[in-house]
Amino acid sequence: MVPVTDAPGADTPPIVVRGGTVVDATGERRADLLVVGDRLAAVGPDLEVPSGARLVEAGGCVVAPGLVDLHTHLRQPGAEEAETIETGARAAALGGYCAVVAMPNTDPPVDSAAVAADVLALGRKAVCRVEVAGAITVGRAGERLAPMGELAALGVRLFTDDGAGVQDAGVMRRALEYARGLESRGLPVVLGQHCETDSLTAGGVMHEGAWSSRLGVPGAPAESEELMVARDIALVRLTGGRVHFLHLSTARSLAMVAAAKAEGLAVTAEVTPHHLTLADEELAGYDPIYKVNPPLRTAADAAGVRRACAAGVVDAVATDHAPHPPEAKATTLQDAAPGMLGLETALAVTLDALTGATAAPAMALGAVLGLLSWGPARIAGLAVDQGGDQGGPLVAGAPANLFVFDPEERWEVDPARLASRSRNTPWAGRTLRGRVRHTVWRGEPVVVDGEAQR
Ligand code: DOR
Repeated sequence: MVPVTDAPGADTPPIVVRGGTVVDATGERRADLLVVGDRLAAVGPDLEVPSGARLVEAGGCVVAPGLVDLHTHLRQPGAEEAETIETGARAAALGGYCAVVAMPNTDPPVDSAAVAADVLALGRKAVCRVEVAGAITVGRAGERLAPMGELAALGVRLFTDDGAGVQDAGVMRRALEYARGLESRGLPVVLGQHCETDSLTAGGVMHEGAWSSRLGVPGAPAESEELMVARDIALVRLTGGRVHFLHLSTARSLAMVAAAKAEGLAVTAEVTPHHLTLADEELAGYDPIYKVNPPLRTAADAAGVRRACAAGVVDAVATDHAPHPPEAKATTLQDAAPGMLGLETALAVTLDALTGATAAPAMALGAVLGLLSWGPARIAGLAVDQGGDQGGPLVAGAPANLFVFDPEERWEVDPARLASRSRNTPWAGRTLRGRVRHTVWRGEPVVVDGEAQR
């Protein structure tokens, strides 16, 4: 992994995060935290505040390891009118994230060491850790393998053609075999699959079902996703490789993942906040804000995705933060770009879906934070016990990557106030519960009282 060298943290005065309840993978306890440089110097009840230290109030709040997003579209290079690494990272920090993995469907795509190095260099100036995913195939065209070895040598751990799935089973097989070779050379990588079978999805603009029929809109069936999940599970069995399934949206996809895990295959799965909470009926008004790939499925699928989280089948909740400029959404459902913002709303939306009054069964707060922090940290190769600095327990000596949120605070989503350069949030005007107060990244308070500090 490339060391993050020119981030600040080391120069900032000590910080005391006071009065909160720490929730991490080891459990829950009342504790203050003393941050010195980029590390936690002490964690315990009623810490003394050293002179010159900055107080960060956490009364009534939860203090947790910084969130980690496996699936962020930062749009740079090529679509800086929608987002930049700088603005996307700021949105991430405001959402409680200390690390994001930038998707490679940029222009040019991240299918060469040169582009990956550029993204990583820009990321080093950002307000959270920015890693980059590499493309599996050149140009994300699904034909020839990208130089995965060169990218892995730069620290790239996740490879995906996201935005599109690798359609050809033979190409995916070779990619898995190549990835195994890298692993045996000490470069552990994971292939992330965007599961949509183009020949079934082509022309579809929403989930194919009762609502698409009623609305007279072409649909993409659940089977488009499920066939690729089934195929890739078979390829993992064949090759002994590892696949991480991106943004799974159907109950049957997750049932297949559960069975593959029970068999001992190396598969992991992420789901998005929007597939946990929204269903195809949202498209009843033909509003392109709800157009996303994979599409919002049935309410029964959303319930199945929530159940799979509670059952421990899902490894991560990832945003699929997909910024688009207004003109890309201000058109017909058919022509609109797919995707929605996620970084600044993911925590509240996920907490509501998985711990809220309507969650059945409701999950413990720590388990949900695991899906947003230490679960994805491990898949990205960023976990503390993998030599990284993300998602680890908040104990003395640990990296100071954490955030503070009020689980009860209600707030209305005002698109104009988002830090993202884009405005395409499906939560505009809705009231969410659970708000990020502060984010400390590498010892630097990058968000204080809900405001980005740089
Ligand atoms: O809705 C989506 N938007 N799904 C994807 O897979 C890609 C993303 C984008 O890049 O806009």
